[in-house]
Amino acid sequence: MNPNLHLINHPLVQHKLTLMRRKDASTNTFRRLLNELSALMAYEVTRDMPTHDIEIETPLEKMNSPVIDGKKLVFVSILRAGNGILEGMLNVVPGARVGHVGLYRDPKTLVAVEYYFKMPHDMQDRDVIIVDPMLATGNSAIAAVERLKELGPKSIKFVCLLTCPEGIAALQKAHPDVPIYTAAIDRQLNSHGYILPGLGDAGDRIFGTK
Ligand code: URA
Repeated sequence: MNPNLHLINHPLVQHKLTLMRRKDASTNTFRRLLNELSALMAYEVTRDMPTHDIEIETPLEKMNSPVIDGKKLVFVSILRAGNGILEGMLNVVPGARVGHVGLYRDPKTLVAVEYYFKMPHDMQDRDVIIVDPMLATGNSAIAAVERLKELGPKSIKFVCLLTCPEGIAALQKAHPDVPIYTAAIDRQLNSHGYILPGLGDAGDRIFGTK
C-alpha cells in the first residue's frame, strides 16, 4: 500500500461520484454533487490537523476544549476546474484562505505554463491543500506544487476527485512528499490525456461550457 495515497472510499463519496460520472447528469446536478462531495473530502483531508485546548465557559461551567492550531490553512485551486471543489471545502472550513494558480498546456511542448498565481501572505506559516478534480497526466499538479514549494509552506497536500495510475506515478515521482487524496483511481489515460472511464472534461461539466 502506498502510504502517501489516500483513497476516500466512504459510501457517500462513492455514491455521489457514480452519479457525477453519468453522461446524462446535468450541469446543475454535476455541480451540486461536486459541492457535496468536496465537503466530504474536506473532512478526510483535514483529519490530522493539529489542535490545542483553550479554556471556555459553557452555560454550566468552565472547560478546556480543542481548537485548530496555527494560521488559517490555504486551499489552492488550479484554475479553472479546481474552483468547482472550493465551495464545498469552504463550507466545512469557512475561515480558510484561498489561492489560485492558472496554468495552460503549451500546445507545442506540452509543458504547463503559468498565467496566474495569487496566494495569501505568510505562506511559510500555512498548510496548503491543492484542489483539482482530475489528476490525469500530472503536469499541472507537478507545476503547481513546484511553484508553491518556492514559498516554503508548512505542508502541501493534493486533493482530486479522480486519478489514474499514470497521474499518481508522475506526481509521486516529482513530489514524493506530497500526499494525494482521491475518491477513485480509474483504469488509464487515453491518448488525449483524458481519464478512462473518468467523467469527461471536469471544467466543461462544472461550468456548462461544452
Ligand atoms: N481533465 C479533465 O477534465 N478530464 C480528464 O479526464 C482529464 C483531465
